[in-house]
Amino acid sequence: FTPLPIVDHIGVIAHRGASGYAPEHTLTAYKKAIQMKADYIELDLHMTKDGELVAIHDATLSRTTNAEEVYPGRSPWRVKDFTLSEIKQLDAGSWFNDAYPEYAKKQYSNEKIPTLQETIDYIKQKDANAALYIETKAPNVYPGMEEKLVDILKKNGYLQPGKVIFQSFSAASLRKLREIVPKGIPLIQLYSPAMIQGQNLDDVLDQAAEYAEGVGPELSLVTPEFVQKAHERHLIVHPFTINTKEEMQKQLSLGVDGMFTNYPDRLVSLNKK
Ligand code: G3P
Ligand code: MG
Repeated sequence: FTPLPIVDHIGVIAHRGASGYAPEHTLTAYKKAIQMKADYIELDLHMTKDGELVAIHDATLSRTTNAEEVYPGRSPWRVKDFTLSEIKQLDAGSWFNDAYPEYAKKQYSNEKIPTLQETIDYIKQKDANAALYIETKAPNVYPGMEEKLVDILKKNGYLQPGKVIFQSFSAASLRKLREIVPKGIPLIQLYSPAMIQGQNLDDVLDQAAEYAEGVGPELSLVTPEFVQKAHERHLIVHPFTINTKEEMQKQLSLGVDGMFTNYPDRLVSLNKK
């Protein structure tokens, strides 16, 4: 059992950065997460046509950039069909102004999609203690992504406990990471409800315990039994995505070890209690 670096408080994982306050997966969202003293910044990564790792949640550019305007006719606007320089032309912030008018005071219009390297450089100069919680996709989606990811982290001194946690819905990706990542760096198996519906919880968690240090259940999956069975197997529990203080209190009472949240400040304030 590899104790996680977070042992004295509930881990605050800024979901796509402080994405309740600024456009997700932008350096501004990451800065806010750091300012709010989040323990981890969650990164979803995709690979560009020319093999660069960039932070974006969706496989396509449409929801969080103006790609359809800038590149009409390039449907379906998948990240993997665009070069990094093409992606760098996009505005990754303006969509937020309409989606979250309450925060649109600051018009976000010149945010860019960051590369993994830019994110690391930025975090290093902002707060060298901030760590990364990186989600990988199934190996067949971006062949060689795990190796490239591990290589970049190693070069930057981030391939060490306390600086990175890996997470994935794909057991295959986590098993691959287990082979190439130093011991002591936690791997977290994510679960959507559909993934484990109708399965025996003991079997599900026994499998996770073979290669992971924790589990990341969608919050509706978290019950006293789920937490108890995970902890019996020395698996920590990091549910996603919890945004209201009420739900945070509920998850805390269920005994979870950390949470993914768009509002890190809210969980940090509860930790202080
Ligand atoms: O990675 C944890 C959580 O973010 C999984 O859901 O769709 O927000 O990446 P999603
Ligand atoms: Mg994620």
